[in-house]
Amino acid sequence: MSNQPHYWAIVPAAGVGKRMLADRPKQYLPLRGQTVLEHTLSRLLSAKIADIASAEIFTAVVVAITDTDPYWPELDVSKHPRIVTAAGGKERADSVLSGLKHIRDRAAANDWVLVHDAARPCVTPADIQALIAQLQDDPVGGILALASHDTLKQVQNGRITASVDRSRVWRALTPQMFRYQLLTDALTQTAGNPAITDEASALELLGYKPAIVEGRPDNIKITRPEDLALATFYLEQQ
Ligand code: CTP
Ligand code: MG
Repeated sequence: MSNQPHYWAIVPAAGVGKRMLADRPKQYLPLRGQTVLEHTLSRLLSAKIADIASAEIFTAVVVAITDTDPYWPELDVSKHPRIVTAAGGKERADSVLSGLKHIRDRAAANDWVLVHDAARPCVTPADIQALIAQLQDDPVGGILALASHDTLKQVQNGRITASVDRSRVWRALTPQMFRYQLLTDALTQTAGNPAITDEASALELLGYKPAIVEGRPDNIKITRPEDLALATFYLEQQ
């Protein structure tokens, strides 16, 4: 029993949402009667191990928040017994590393960590379960990703220089699932590198090859104003 790894969720939620052009960080914008962040957290908190309705997946959900954030303490979910608040960092990777360090006394090296963007409120339990089912015996871990349906072009100075083989290019989503110690080491060693925009890229830089698990196209990241309407539509459809 003690050898069974635990599962932890880390939710970076310390961004300012510049591209959203709103009066507050995008994770606090309203979406069907709740904030974006409340949707995201309630999906993680209620995620159950496949086929065991009573077994919650995550031991805790660690949320990385800016120190001066006035919105977070106002949300009831900030007091949830399985929510842990950690300090946000300068870049997304800093926020994730801060979340990892916050649970260093509770997490075992072998435990699994699923990092999920606060700005992806449409993630489904089925996607979380599929990621875990496919990777729980994997030596490295991996990520949810989407195949590209469009033809892809390589471009230089506004002119196409080549077509890219579509089967070789995937769009990286979250959650991204790695072992606690490996992920902590990878983010520590690559700290400050601007090329590290997700967890997988930190492991890639160290020579690992994270696995791909095909995710759902409705797991969008709210990035620009029009994405809120799209997220509303997807939540209604699900
Ligand atoms: N994030 C974070 N800490 C940072 C920067 C980003 O925790 N220093 C989080 C965001 O809150 C978001 C996720 O990382 O949930 C993905 O980042 P992104 O979509 O780029 O969000 P923002 O950085 O807030 O948006 P923008 O880049 O438009 O400013
Ligand atoms: Mg950003």
